[in-house]
Amino acid sequence: MKNSVGEIRDALSAIKSTPIDEARVMPAGYYSSEQFAELEAEYVFRKDWVCLGRADEVAEPGDFYTTDLVGEQLLVTRGKDNAVRVLSNVCRHRGNMIAEGRGRKSRFSCAYHAWTYGLEGQLVGAPHMSKVKGFDTACYRLPTFKTEIWEGFLFVNLDGEAEALAPRISDVLPFIKNYDVAERVHGFTEQATWQTNWKCLAENFMEGYHLDVTHPKTLRPLTPTGLCEHVPSNGYFNAYYSYYDPKYPERGPFPPKLTDKEKRCSFMFGVFPNLVVAAAPGILIFLCLTPNTKDSVNIRWGMSALPQSEGITDEQREFMNQINAEDKSKLETLQKGLQSRYLDPGPLAKPDLEGTIYDMYQYMAKQLASDVDLG
Ligand code: FES
Ligand SMILES: [Fe+2]
Repeated sequence: MKNSVGEIRDALSAIKSTPIDEARVMPAGYYSSEQFAELEAEYVFRKDWVCLGRADEVAEPGDFYTTDLVGEQLLVTRGKDNAVRVLSNVCRHRGNMIAEGRGRKSRFSCAYHAWTYGLEGQLVGAPHMSKVKGFDTACYRLPTFKTEIWEGFLFVNLDGEAEALAPRISDVLPFIKNYDVAERVHGFTEQATWQTNWKCLAENFMEGYHLDVTHPKTLRPLTPTGLCEHVPSNGYFNAYYSYYDPKYPERGPFPPKLTDKEKRCSFMFGVFPNLVVAAAPGILIFLCLTPNTKDSVNIRWGMSALPQSEGITDEQREFMNQINAEDKSKLETLQKGLQSRYLDPGPLAKPDLEGTIYDMYQYMAKQLASDVDLG
């Protein structure tokens, strides 16, 4: 049978009191129900902190990009005051989208009737509107959403009600401090849409169980499944160490404070709900995931380099493209499987391999379990 929203929320309630080594995989509807996806959009993506990318993607005043967050059109700009803002990309006249793509501009002019906005969202011009009685440009700013920059990542909170982000994920800082995450320099960002539920990709990026089998030629020789070590979660992040095979040669340059242990592993971490990161000695890989439909995910992903390096090399980018292709093919067949009405899913693997999935279940349970009053 198709899972009802009630069943999915009950399964989330049950996971709250299930020990990590007894956890089972969530019912298929958790990943494939239209109604549950609507709850996620409303009570997770509109209410919590959502990562859009790296703050230095807009490095100079006038740099901008646009993105969609659960149907809300956003315009990310760096203003003349050097502040990064997330503005509504919706014209105050009749609601057309104002900007598209990315680039550098000194102002944004709506293509419909040319209402024109400054980098900080103020309306600076509106043709023929001075003839309208009482019209005042000062009354028509673009809404500005609440933002926080944490370790170089830009987060937005649409409803403006979320508690501060940094304190609740401070427990992850000791693990990443030597990797100089905030200092990494943006290399590139790409956008993609994969035909899989956003949580499938978040889980996949954060579990080491699939590495040997899904990535036999790329990651298995580098970060084999058997060398993964789970890091306990505080409910707002998940993490694991992905140690390098001892036979794999050491490759600098390294951040100056990196320990010998840290030179031999990637620290994989996720900030719930939607940011997943691989902090490797030489590169930083990030994926920002937002639901497109229940069966497809919008991805903004990219790489940042060490300030003392030459930037991202073609070889590093190609390696990641290959890994992404390997993951994409599995996640898209997974999503087809998750449409089944007959799936009775199995247990999670031991915490070092899939404990991060349990950690994400706990976060989702905190937002959407049946004992949570959604008001
Ligand atoms: S909708 Fe933008 S100027 Fe009319
Ligand atoms: Fe993978």
